Amino acid sequence: MTSVEQLRQDITARGDLPEHIAIVMDGNGRWARKRMLPRVAGHREGINSVRKVTRICGELDIKHLTLYTFSTENWNRPRKEVSAIMQLLMTTIRAEVDNLHKNNVRLTVIGQLEDIPAEARQGMIEGMEKTAGNSGLNLNLALSYGSRQEIISAVRKLSGLVAKGELSVEDIDEDVLSSQLYTAGMPDPDLLIRTGGEYRISNFLLWQMAYTEVYITPVFWPDFRERELLKALSEYQLRERRFGMVSEQLK
Ligand code: IPE
Ligand code: IPE
Ligand code: MG
Repeated sequence: MTSVEQLRQDITARGDLPEHIAIVMDGNGRWARKRMLPRVAGHREGINSVRKVTRICGELDIKHLTLYTFSTENWNRPRKEVSAIMQLLMTTIRAEVDNLHKNNVRLTVIGQLEDIPAEARQGMIEGMEKTAGNSGLNLNLALSYGSRQEIISAVRKLSGLVAKGELSVEDIDEDVLSSQLYTAGMPDPDLLIRTGGEYRISNFLLWQMAYTEVYITPVFWPDFRERELLKALSEYQLRERRFGMVSEQLK
């Protein structure tokens, strides 16, 4: 088996890494069930993968890492699981912010932050403020995030501007709509990784992923560490992104 070191060297030498990676961190529950553990044990172990993947993305000079942490639809899970996840979120953010800051990581959040319990929300806000000036990796957590809700909220904001006469209908284009999304100012993801083996998008970044390369692995999120990330990057580097054109035009 190629060593992790070798993989990393090959990837760095080849260059052309994604500027923005988005990850659907799925499979925590199944990871736990396989070990006869409660689901929350999978979420807890998943945090170690977040730490690892964040560190490596920083080292590889990736600019944005968007992690699907909790979806709008995840609120419909059993109350006990939702509160365990919110608890974990709160303790993790408090414990990790200093470390993120030390590593020059900038923390941002997309989604309906107002839905998050006050204490966890406060931790996020403080984390964002503390790291706002950092110039390294942007770690962007999608929290209480739903892409359809995001698009509706953008449409509402634009309609409001039109109603007030501050925007004309003809001026609405892709850039104008993008500017009202939670991801305003961020480039679209180049690479989407989904762990846990499901072939679906689950209401994640629908607009932003128009031309994103998709990589799906059966590996459960708590098992997704350096080697798995490097494998995904290495496959990404072999893809030809044609954006609707033909191969010859890209030469
Ligand atoms: C992803 O893992 C984490 C969240 C959605 C919060 P799951 O909890 O969905 O794990 P599986 O898919 O049931 O294995
Ligand atoms: C997607 O995983 C959401 C997150 C990883 C936060 P889900 O487990 O909620 O997705 P579905 O229900 O299998 O589509
Ligand atoms: Mg799941």
